[in-house]
Amino acid sequence: MQKNKLIKKYNKQVKMYEKNRNNPTLAPWRREILKGLQGKVLEVGVGAGANFAFYDKASIHITGVDFSPEMLKSARKAADSHQVNTELLLKNVENLDFESNSFDHIVSTLSLCSYQNPAGVLAKFNKWCRQDGSIRLLEHGLSSNKFLSLSQKAIDPIFTKISGCHCDRDILQLVKKANIKVDRVDRYWSDIVYLIWAKPSVN
Ligand SMILES: C[S@@+](CC[C@H](N)C(=O)[O-])C[C@H]1O[C@@H](n2cnc3c(N)ncnc32)[C@H](O)[C@@H]1O
Repeated sequence: MQKNKLIKKYNKQVKMYEKNRNNPTLAPWRREILKGLQGKVLEVGVGAGANFAFYDKASIHITGVDFSPEMLKSARKAADSHQVNTELLLKNVENLDFESNSFDHIVSTLSLCSYQNPAGVLAKFNKWCRQDGSIRLLEHGLSSNKFLSLSQKAIDPIFTKISGCHCDRDILQLVKKANIKVDRVDRYWSDIVYLIWAKPSVN
């Protein structure tokens, strides 16, 4: 989907994402994937700041990036209310660049579904993340169940038109394509939900 259209779509969805901050299904997955993070953290596609409640705020500085001004406004409120040390950048993640080794950890939750080139975004994590740091992903994508994956592929065009995000992306394939080193994968809901703990490849 064209960038400006997608930004408008996400601007309009901000109330839904605010309500979803306390989603009881997502909360344990968010807590699990963010466990133990300290130092400088980059969160791409930060949205309404749904993860802020789950960081260890004593020891963290978050750089949150999103191209939706409405999402970022909401993320600012969430960061202030959770007292998380946060800098927010209104940027397109796909055009973004940082110096090598800028971050201890990089987090993406439910954002790989939206990018035009998700493997390209992931590949940049190898440069931005310190070698002794980690890449943490909580994403939805293609199921391992044949019937479900066929259905996901069939509905993807309409799903994208309505929500702005793709439902048929093979997240592990994208991670592999980006040359990111996977340490652990947990999957839920017929493998539609992916929790991935990974490390950057040498850059
Ligand atoms: C599905 S929401 C997920 C929000 C949040 N990460 C969460 O876990 O609730 C995807 C977010 O990514 C942002 N996004 C999508 N494509 C982007 C891009 N190319 N650059 C920056 N932000 C983007 C959207 O504006 C939206 O806030």
